[in-house]
Amino acid sequence: SSRIMLGPLVAAIDQGTSSTRFLVFNSKTAELLSHHQVEIKQSFPKEGWVEEDPREILQSVYECMERTCEKLTQLNIDISNIKAIGVTNQRETTLVWDKETGEPLYNAIVWLDLRTQSTVERLINKTPGRNKNHLKHKTGLPISTYFSAVKLRWLMDNVDEVHEAILSHRAMFGTIDSWLIWCLTGGKKGGVHCTDVTNASRTMLFNIHTMDWDPELCSYFGIPMEILPRVRSSSEIYGLMKICSSLKSGALTGIPISGCLGDQSAALVGQMCFQDGHAKNTYGTGCFLLRNTGSKPVMSDHGLLTTVAYKLGRDKPACYALEGSVAIAGAVVRWLKDNLGIIDGSEELEKLAASVGTSYGCYFVPAFSGLYAPYWEPSARGIICGLTQFTNRSHLAFAALEAVCFQTREILDAMNQDSGIPLNQLQVDGGMTSNRLLMQLQADILCIPVVKPSMPETTALGAAMAAGAAEGVSVWSLSPEDLSEVTSEKFEPQINPEESEFRYARWKKAVQKAMNWET
Ligand code: G3P
Repeated sequence: SSRIMLGPLVAAIDQGTSSTRFLVFNSKTAELLSHHQVEIKQSFPKEGWVEEDPREILQSVYECMERTCEKLTQLNIDISNIKAIGVTNQRETTLVWDKETGEPLYNAIVWLDLRTQSTVERLINKTPGRNKNHLKHKTGLPISTYFSAVKLRWLMDNVDEVHEAILSHRAMFGTIDSWLIWCLTGGKKGGVHCTDVTNASRTMLFNIHTMDWDPELCSYFGIPMEILPRVRSSSEIYGLMKICSSLKSGALTGIPISGCLGDQSAALVGQMCFQDGHAKNTYGTGCFLLRNTGSKPVMSDHGLLTTVAYKLGRDKPACYALEGSVAIAGAVVRWLKDNLGIIDGSEELEKLAASVGTSYGCYFVPAFSGLYAPYWEPSARGIICGLTQFTNRSHLAFAALEAVCFQTREILDAMNQDSGIPLNQLQVDGGMTSNRLLMQLQADILCIPVVKPSMPETTALGAAMAAGAAEGVSVWSLSPEDLSEVTSEKFEPQINPEESEFRYARWKKAVQKAMNWET
C-alpha cells in the first residue's frame, strides 16, 4: 500500500508525574497523528514521601516510542519523516546517577515530596526576619520543599551512594529532562548532560537574571557545581538519538533532540501564549496557571512564583512568567480511587458529581503536600469539612472537583492583583479538561469564560514546536498564524456571582482550618 505524504513530522516526549506519552504531530497543521501513553508508578515509602523509579520512567519512554512508531506504520505514515524530537517533563523532580555505570543512585524524589520539610523550616529560621522569600530576588522562588535544591541536599546527606559518587566525581544531578536526554543521546557512552533554562529555573540554584547557575546559591545549599548539567536554551540541538537495545525498531536513531521545556512552559508555548499578558492554566497532577510577562521578570507581591517561561533559541531573548502553582488537582482523583476506593476513575467521578450537582456544604481542601501558591505553607494538611448524615460519596466527588476550581480562583485573584489587568477569560488545557462538569464549574467559580482548545495535548505540542523550530531543523516557524486553525470550546459562567462568592468565602474558611492544622 502507498505511504501517505505529509511533509515533515515532529515528535515530543511528555514525561509527566502520572504518565509518559510520546506524540507525533504534522508540522504543517499541528495535527496529532499518533501517540501512546503509559502510566507511571508512584511509591509512598513514608508519610509525605513520593518517589518514582528513573529506570521505569526511561523504559516508559522507550515503550511509548516503540508503540507510537508501530501505530504510525499501521497508518501508512513513514517514520523517517520525523525530523525532530522535543522533551517536556514534570519539573523539579530530582535524581542523581553515576555517569560511569549509567545507573540512578536512588529513586527520583518527586516534586510533591515533603521529606525536606524540616530542612526548609531550618533554612527559613536562619534567614533575617525568618523570611521564606530570602532567595527570591535571584531565583523568583520562596524557600520550599517544592524545588530541587533541597531534594538534592537530602540525597547528598542521606544516601551513601550519592555521597560517594560525588567524592569520586562520578555523580550527575538532573531533573527528568536531563536524565532522559542523557540516556537517549548515549548515556554512559557519551550522553549529553544538559537542561534548559525553564527546568533550571525550578531548581533554586539558577539565577533568573544572569540565566546561569549561581555560585552563591550553590554554596548556600552546599551543592558542588560540577554535578550540574549544562544550561541550554529551550530550542536548539542538544544531541542525536542513539541506537538502543530497548528500542527494537531502531527507527528513531539519529533524529535530533532539539526542544526541551518544563511541562508548564511547554503548555504556554503550545497554547501560543507568546505575548505579555497571555495566560494558560493546565490541569494535570497539579494545576499551574502561567502568565507571560515578556522579557522582564516580574516579582509577585501575592505569593506567585517568577519563572523562566521559555527561550526559543540560543540567540533569542528569554521570556518570563508569573506562575501560580497548585500541588493537588488530578492527584485528588487518584487519591479517591486508590486510597479511599470510592470511585474507579475520572469518568465515574464526573458522573457521581453530576448526579448531585452540589457538595451540599461539604468542602474538601486536598492539602496533601502542604499548600503551594499563594500560601506556601508546608505544614498545612488536607481536610474535609461540613459533613452531615446526608453527605455521600457523590457530594465528596463534587467537593473534590470544586477544590480544583477554588484553588484556581485563588491563583487567578493573586495574578490579577499582581498585574493590575484582570484576565477576562481563562485558556485551559491538560487531562482534567475533558471533564465538562469541571470546566463549567470553573467558569462558574471564576465568573469568566473558560476556553479549551479542541486538541488537548498542548504541552506536547509546545515541546514539538520548540524542537521543530531549532536552528538546524527549522521545519516549524513559531508564528501563531501558522496554527490559526486551532479550534476551541468555550464555557460561559452560568450561576450568579453572589452564589459563587458565597461558596468561595466558605472555601477560604476551610483553607484556614487546613493551614492551622498543626498548631
Ligand atoms: O511543577 C510540577 C509540574 O511540572 C508537574 O506537572 O502535569 O505532572 O502535574 P504535572
